Amino acid sequence: MKTAITGSIAFDYIMTYPGKFSEMLLADELDHISVSFLVDDMARHRGGVAPNIAYTLALLGERPLLVGAAGRDFSEYCSALEAVGVDTSGVHLYNDLFTASFFVSTDQKQNQIAMFYAGAMARSKDIQLIDVLPDKTDLVVISPNDPTAMRQYVASCKANNIPYLYDPSQQVARMGGEELAEGVDGAHLLIVNDYEYMALMKKTGLSHDDLLTMAKVVIVTKGSGGSIIHADGREYTIPVAPPDAIKDPTGVGDAFRAGLLKGIASGWDWSLCGQIGSLCATYVLEQIGTQNHTFTPQEFVTRFRLNFDDHGALDALL
Ligand SMILES: Nc1ncnc2c1ncn2[C@@H]1O[C@H](COP(=O)(O)OP(=O)(O)OP(=O)(O)O)[C@@H](O)[C@H]1O
Ligand SMILES: [Mg+2]
Repeated sequence: MKTAITGSIAFDYIMTYPGKFSEMLLADELDHISVSFLVDDMARHRGGVAPNIAYTLALLGERPLLVGAAGRDFSEYCSALEAVGVDTSGVHLYNDLFTASFFVSTDQKQNQIAMFYAGAMARSKDIQLIDVLPDKTDLVVISPNDPTAMRQYVASCKANNIPYLYDPSQQVARMGGEELAEGVDGAHLLIVNDYEYMALMKKTGLSHDDLLTMAKVVIVTKGSGGSIIHADGREYTIPVAPPDAIKDPTGVGDAFRAGLLKGIASGWDWSLCGQIGSLCATYVLEQIGTQNHTFTPQEFVTRFRLNFDDHGALDALL
C-alpha cells in the first residue's frame, strides 16, 4: 500500500533552566521585560507530526512518502529519515528559511516558556499535493500543518477521489467549524484525542452520530485509557500496552497513528490495527523525543505477543 503523509516537519529545541522563571518576572515591571535565562542543557530533537508518523511506520517495514515543507537546516534530518526507510521525495526544500522550530524551556517548577517558529512550514500551502503523489496513492494522511495547506490537501483528495485520513489534532484549536466539517465530511478515517473530539463537536455543532455518518471510521484516543475505534457500525475498545517507564508523552499520538496505518496497509481487522498503534505509542512513551525509539520487527512482534493475541497475523512482519 502506498501511503503519503502530510503534516508539519519540525525540530524541537528543549532546554532546562535550573532556577525559577518567576524570580525574574517582576509583577510591576512586566510592560518592559528584558530577561535572559542561562540554561543548563539543550537537546535538539527531530520532530513534526508527519516525520514522526513516517519514522515509526518505516520501522514497521513500510516505505511511506513524506510530504511537507522544510528549510535549509533539513539535510541531516532528511538523511536520517531516508536511512530508516522513509521516502522523502515529497519534501519541498526552502533554502531561504529554517525548518519549523519549537523552542521550549522548562524551569525547576515545571513552568514553561515556549516559542513556535513556523519557518518553512508556512510554505506547505504552495505544495500542489496532486503533483507530488504517485499515480497509485492508496491513502493520504492529513495531519497538523499550516491550516490553509490542510484545507487545500482535503480539497485535492476529494477532487481526485483519493481516500484520506483526517487528523486535525492540535490544529482543531486554530481551525474554524466550517473547515473542520469540510475535512471530516468524506474522510476515510477521522482520528483525534478525546479532548480534541469534544472541541471538534463544539466548533462544528455536529454530534457524534453526525460525525459517524460523515467519516467512514472515527477513532478517538484517550491517553492511558486506550482508544475507541468506531467502524462498520461497531465500537472496538483498544487497551494500552503497559509501558516499562514513562519518560516523555510527546509524540504518542503520532506513533499510535503509525501503528494503525501499518495495520490498515496489511488489511488487518480494527482491533489488531488499534493494538499495533497502542504498542507503537508505548515505545515512544519510554523515550525522550519522538523519534528516539527503535525496534526490529522481531522485537516488536515478541513484545506484541506479551500483551495481545494476533492469531499469528504478525508473522507477516518477520
Ligand atoms: N500513559 C499511557 N500508557 C500507555 N499508553 C498510552 C499512554 N498515554 C497514551 N498512550 C497510548 O497512546 C495513544 C494516544 O494517546 P493520546 O490520546 O494521549 O494522544 P494525543 O493526546 O494525541 O498525544 P500527543 O501528545 O502525541 O498529541 C493512546 O490511545 C494509547 O494507546
Ligand atoms: Mg495528538
